Amino acid sequence: MSENKFYITTAIDYMNAPPHIGHAFEKIQTDARARYQTLLGNDVYFLTGTDDHGIKIVRTAHDAGKEVREFATENANIFRELLDLLTISNNDFIRTSDREHHWPGALKLWNKLVESNDIYKSAYKGFYCVGCEAYITEKELVEEKCCIHDTKPEVIEEENYFFKLSKYAVELIEKIQSNELLIVPESRKNEVLRMLDEGLEDISFSRPKEKLNGWGIPVPGDESQLIYVWCDALSNYITGLGYGSDNTELFDTYWPADVHVIGKDIVRFHAIYWPAMLLSAGLPLPKTILVHGMIISGGKKMSKSLGNVIDPYKLINTYGAEALRYYLLREVSSLEDGDMTEEKFKETYNANLANGLGNLVSRILKMSSSYGVEIDHNELESTEHVMKDAQEYRNAFDSYKINDAADKVWEMIGALDQRIAEKEPYKLIKTDEDAAKNEVEYLLHELWRISILLSPFLPTTSIKIKSLIKENKTPDKPLFLRME
Ligand code: MF3
Repeated sequence: MSENKFYITTAIDYMNAPPHIGHAFEKIQTDARARYQTLLGNDVYFLTGTDDHGIKIVRTAHDAGKEVREFATENANIFRELLDLLTISNNDFIRTSDREHHWPGALKLWNKLVESNDIYKSAYKGFYCVGCEAYITEKELVEEKCCIHDTKPEVIEEENYFFKLSKYAVELIEKIQSNELLIVPESRKNEVLRMLDEGLEDISFSRPKEKLNGWGIPVPGDESQLIYVWCDALSNYITGLGYGSDNTELFDTYWPADVHVIGKDIVRFHAIYWPAMLLSAGLPLPKTILVHGMIISGGKKMSKSLGNVIDPYKLINTYGAEALRYYLLREVSSLEDGDMTEEKFKETYNANLANGLGNLVSRILKMSSSYGVEIDHNELESTEHVMKDAQEYRNAFDSYKINDAADKVWEMIGALDQRIAEKEPYKLIKTDEDAAKNEVEYLLHELWRISILLSPFLPTTSIKIKSLIKENKTPDKPLFLRME
């Protein structure tokens, strides 16, 4: 198998409110994909982080009576800790308020756009939705309100720098249509093409400094303005690799991104603004923009008033992080909106983790340890072999259907259960010891394969199963306790 580099990112999060299930979902999905690429033998780099600037954070910090930098650091740490809790394998964590690692690259990018004559100053009058952190056009208003937040936008009149987005429309259409810039799923690609068809207006690219309490990156050569979110936040994908710093080794190795994983509310930014900025700067475009769905609950968007908000921390505390990973990777679709209720969570946990996987591991290891089945570690299949054989699993991952790939693993689990029921090695041991041992040895080898294919989904469990097999030991306690 090839040894290609693979650079994958999540969107960087606003952290004025604590992480919710959607944040966990995006990180877990991206992590599974990163780990899958590692299994393929590729050289993976995985970046995530926080989007620290913006009026909302300034306001929330103010309401909390905190200094904004301190507030941002505290909250960014909460996001960082969630990554640890979820065993996310990111290589780095970038913060846009990081003057050492982020600012130089964001400024360099800005200067590149200036060199291309794509930045100009002009009067801006329009609407700004604080909830979206975005300027919105009249077309996007419903009954004079932002259709996402159902609030009236602020009317803004100011001098801004603008970016000549319109200049890149034709080139973008071409690259998206030809899949040179692949947008997955197809429905999102079509949505972007429709946006491009409607025509592009240039976008406001800076804000007056005083409106943000000075919280942001100053525009080069004009201290009265701060760089607005596009060049400030989207640039994280390259500054996280050292773009703009003295050491561009990572950037030279990993850029362009192989996959930007994002939610559907920020498609326009990633599929239009970001590639246009890169074209302007003369940098290669990301290869794929992968848009995941949203987690809803009981068929409805989660909201405090409906009382259907699912707290990732509560699930992790009760069932463990592996259980949450399991649900978000297998029980919901990778590309469409996925439904989640605590009831269904418990049901599938019991059926597929406590019973399905957990039971299988206990049964096989109980037999192998009590029958004294010796397994030669050198004969355990290599990851490369296992992956080569797992064609349907790879096809599912490669066509961005992580949940289908998980189905393949649970099909293998089901098949082994069935085989044990048919061959009954626990009976056979009384009449034909050699045949029973051979059978258990076969089961161990199959379980070994399962443990490898399981690693993008349940990395901790995968390691546990591997060492149980190597040590020929029954787990001290069930891998997944049944929940009543
Ligand atoms: N912070 C934004 C959000 O949470 C996403 C910014 S997009 C990125 O919706 F490119 F900056 F990542």
